[in-house]
Amino acid sequence: MDKAAKQTRYGEVYNEIMAVIAGETSRTARFASAACLLSQAFAPRFYWTGFYEVDPNKPDELVVGPYQGTLGCLRIPFGKGVCGVCAQTKTTQLVADVHQFPGHIACDNATRSEIVVPVFDEHKQLVAVLDVDSTEPDAFDTTDRQALEMICRDLLR
Ligand code: SME
Repeated sequence: MDKAAKQTRYGEVYNEIMAVIAGETSRTARFASAACLLSQAFAPRFYWTGFYEVDPNKPDELVVGPYQGTLGCLRIPFGKGVCGVCAQTKTTQLVADVHQFPGHIACDNATRSEIVVPVFDEHKQLVAVLDVDSTEPDAFDTTDRQALEMICRDLLR
């Protein structure tokens, strides 16, 4: 998929997600709908697509939320693996080769590259991260980053 086709697809899926979640007050419903639509829009490149949420009872730990894909790890401490570093630094992590990422958590050995984007609530508090994994090395670029950041920015608005 070239850059223009990818941008078009992201534009469509952004509109779909926002239409489906409009007026919905459940965060779970919003995350589940976004995981489903993103996974479908970019299959099979998106091998695992979903959310890890900040556990309100353990604020330095992520717990798995709605996702599409193979079985994910249930919990990830802040600072551990790509998701944990995203949660700790509150910045997007784009990893071309997970084998080169210190402390990478292999929930599924098939994963070769991934992108993880922070999700904030209306008070600018970190509430979750969006994790997208691929079995292809170097599967994500700045087009994915910009589009996924835009979706995450608007997901809880
Ligand atoms: N790859 C992630 C772990 C989560 S799963 O692979 C679903 C990480 O290193 O943070």
